[in-house]
Amino acid sequence: MKISNDINEAVFWLSQNKVVAIPTETVYGLAANIYNEEAVNSIYKIKNRPSNNPLIVHIKSERELYKYVDHVPVKANLLAKTFWPGPLTLVLKKAAHIPNYITSNKDTVAIRVPAHKTTLNLLENLLFPLAAPSANPSNNVSSTTAQHVLDYFGDKLPFVLDGGSCAKGLESTIIGFEKGEPIIYRLGALSVEHIERVVGKVQIRNNATQNPDAPGMFSKHYAPKTPLYIVKNLEDFLSKANDTNCAYLGFDKPFIHSKINKNYLLSENKNFDEAASNLYKTLIEIDTQQFDLIVTQYLPEIDLGKSINDRLSRAAFQIN
Ligand code: TXA
Ligand code: MG
Repeated sequence: MKISNDINEAVFWLSQNKVVAIPTETVYGLAANIYNEEAVNSIYKIKNRPSNNPLIVHIKSERELYKYVDHVPVKANLLAKTFWPGPLTLVLKKAAHIPNYITSNKDTVAIRVPAHKTTLNLLENLLFPLAAPSANPSNNVSSTTAQHVLDYFGDKLPFVLDGGSCAKGLESTIIGFEKGEPIIYRLGALSVEHIERVVGKVQIRNNATQNPDAPGMFSKHYAPKTPLYIVKNLEDFLSKANDTNCAYLGFDKPFIHSKINKNYLLSENKNFDEAASNLYKTLIEIDTQQFDLIVTQYLPEIDLGKSINDRLSRAAFQIN
C-alpha cells in the first residue's frame, strides 16, 4: 500500500475501479466510484461489512445535491446550505440512477459534501461521486490518520490519499426526514445544538435496536480490543476489580489510583471539539499497549459530549 498526498494517483486508482482511502474532516473513508458495482463490492469485502448496511455518497458541492436525490425538503435544503461542506449527512429520496447496491435497495440515499481540501479537490477531478464508509474493519474504531488505515488494511488497498489527521475525528451526524421534519439517525461531529439553531427542535432516533432506518447503528459498533468499562464510581469499581493494569480514559483530569497505570486525557481544557478529535486516536493508541481494561466515564451531555458519549456506549464492554 502506498501513502501519498498526490491527487493524480488517487484519480488513477479510482478510475481503474480500485478502492482508495480518502481523508475527510470527520474520519478516513474507503472510497470507490458509485457507478462501478465491482469496486463498491470490494469495499464491502475489504471491510467485512454486511451488505444490508448502505454507503454514504460523497459529492463535490451542495449545488450537485439535486442530481442525486428526488426531493429536497425545505429543512434539508437549509441544512445543506448552512453546513456543507461539513460533517453532516442527509438521507433523502434517491434519484433513479443511484444504484441499489449503494443504498442496500433502500429508496433513500445518504449524501454529504466533505470539508477537506484534498478530497474536494479529488472530487473536482473525477467524473463520478465517491461511495465511502469509514476506513475500518466492521465493528472497529474508525481511522483518523493515514497510518491507522495502513495498520488496519495493509496491502488490501493500493493507495491511501494522505490528508493528515482528521480535524473532527468523529463521523458525520446523519439526518433523515419524515414529513419534511428532520430526525437525527446518528449523533456525530455536528452538534445537536448547531442543528437546532438552524431548523428548530429535532427528534433524535439514534438507537440501533429501534432504528431500522440506519442499519449500521448496531449498538456495538466502534469497539477497541481492550474491554472498556463506563463507570459511575471509579473508586468503587477499581476496589472490586481483579485487574491491576488499567488505563483511565478521562475528559480533563487524571484519576490517580494504584490500579491505573496510565491516564489518557481527551482535553485538558475541557474542550469538546478537542475531545472528539482525540477520541478514536486515543482508543487506537491504548489498544497498542497491553492493558487489562480501560475505565472511563461519560462526559457532560451537551454539545459534542453527547456524540462522544454515544460512541463510548457503543465501544463499551460494560456500563455500570
Ligand atoms: O463521517 C462520515 O460519515 C464518514 C466519512 C468517511 O464520510 N463515513 C461514515 O460511513 O461514517 P459509515 O458507512 O461508517 O456510516 C454510514 C452510516 C451507516 O450507519 C449507514 O447505515 C447509514 O450511514 N446510512 C447509509 N445510507 C443510509 C440510508 N439510505 N438510510 C439510512 N442510513 C443510511
Ligand atoms: Mg463506520
